[in-house]
Amino acid sequence: MASRTITRRVRGIPTSDGAGVKLTRVIGQPMLDSLDPFLLLDEFGSDSATDYIAGFPDHPHRGFETVTYMLDGRMRHRDNHGNSGLLESGSVQWMTAGRGIVHSEMPEQEHGLMRGFQLWVNLAAKDKMTDPRYQDIAPEKIPTAEPASGVKVRVVAGEAFGVRGPVDGIAIEPVYLDIALEPGAQLTVPLPEGHSAFAYVFEGDAAHVGADVLGLRELGVLSKGGAVELAVPVDAKAARVLLVAGRPLNESVARYGPFVMNTPEQIVQAMQDYQSGRF
Ligand code: FE2
Repeated sequence: MASRTITRRVRGIPTSDGAGVKLTRVIGQPMLDSLDPFLLLDEFGSDSATDYIAGFPDHPHRGFETVTYMLDGRMRHRDNHGNSGLLESGSVQWMTAGRGIVHSEMPEQEHGLMRGFQLWVNLAAKDKMTDPRYQDIAPEKIPTAEPASGVKVRVVAGEAFGVRGPVDGIAIEPVYLDIALEPGAQLTVPLPEGHSAFAYVFEGDAAHVGADVLGLRELGVLSKGGAVELAVPVDAKAARVLLVAGRPLNESVARYGPFVMNTPEQIVQAMQDYQSGRF
């Protein structure tokens, strides 16, 4: 099988969202507007409560999915349909907003480390107005594969090394892996042909991706075909890499804040529906 190479590298930009939560935007910023079907990737991480305590009070979403992967901390979500849940360290929430929800995502801690990712995944035109759906997955429901010496792979979505992740029924057939590599470890990760894919180093100093080296907090967009070869040299620090892939939609995108549709008219409709309480 051919190996994927890095076609583009991007560093996130510091920004804030919600009621002033500090975060790093890696996808969904001028250097990388989107990576079909992925619309946004935010990394948040701080042990200073002032960076996160204001949280994300009530806000709408329509036309896509938000995937929150909590590494450390506790976040409470509540929506206008009566759903609520607690995201704890190591858990994931795959939320399909579909035709619309209004929700809040608020820290349920006043000190200590809060760290994680939020990824936005686009929905195909035919699925944009689907019923909202939540998959709240507790940490112990996320299986770990140990396919090579010094390698641990948490399989959040998709299949890797004979282990199937708990997220199901997602049209873009996502692969979402949290890969920990000890010094000297190496690994070949097969990915579905034609899927868009990226790797993001979030612990350690760097990780080798094929013939390239990806630094800490650097995202590498991967070429379309084949497997990904990851490695950490024996004299380097252990590293952790987020490896995510999804089938591209190849559809027009009209985007305005928390609304992601196919046409400007649908965006206007989304704003009217939100303002008149039809979410
Ligand atoms: Fe949200």
